[in-house]
Amino acid sequence: MFKIVVLVSGNGSNLQALINNCIENHITGNIVGVICNDPNAFAIKRAENHSIPCEIIDHKEFLSREEFDQRVLDSLIKMQPDLIVLAGFMRILTNIIIDRFENKIINIHPSLLPKYPGLDTHQKVIENNDKFHGVTIHFVNNELDAGKVIAQGKLKVEKSENIAKLIERIHKIEHDLLPYIVNKFATLEIEKQNEIYYKTYNF
Ligand code: GRF
Repeated sequence: MFKIVVLVSGNGSNLQALINNCIENHITGNIVGVICNDPNAFAIKRAENHSIPCEIIDHKEFLSREEFDQRVLDSLIKMQPDLIVLAGFMRILTNIIIDRFENKIINIHPSLLPKYPGLDTHQKVIENNDKFHGVTIHFVNNELDAGKVIAQGKLKVEKSENIAKLIERIHKIEHDLLPYIVNKFATLEIEKQNEIYYKTYNF
């Protein structure tokens, strides 16, 4: 069984999409654990609703990034994931975790990277009158939103589109593309996994 661990910090709608796709067998694998760094995140409730073990590791209780990562690493080692998915996880990981799980950690980011790493991506798209917006799924390294790109989902920004509508459209892409790519990891032999890299999906 392909074991997935999801790291979250907030609402967890992407976690929910992954849970639903596992239940519906669109992902050939199981979410064996969730790790959340915010005790108030709604994502915790989503994991509980489906009886998925959820570890709450509050980063504020640690003196340094390294100490926090060491604690997360201890949990990850116990969970033995084949793939770690950062789905709205608002912490930069250090090499303590990255080196241990090389090519096994992916992140979803709401922009067409390398455009707009970091926060407020939708706002920036609107302010700059961009014609296109989208999401990127990429491997995680120790820089913010900077690892090797796996797949992008792209949409055309409508004229005078408001931000709420744009965010809704982006979330829809995320909820389709992330489970699709996770299932590629779950089903493709390791040697063939580079077949999934660098694809753009137009929505
Ligand atoms: C998503 O837009 C994701 O791309 C970004 O954070 C957001 C998380 O949303 N990294 P949710 O918590 O999955 O609803």
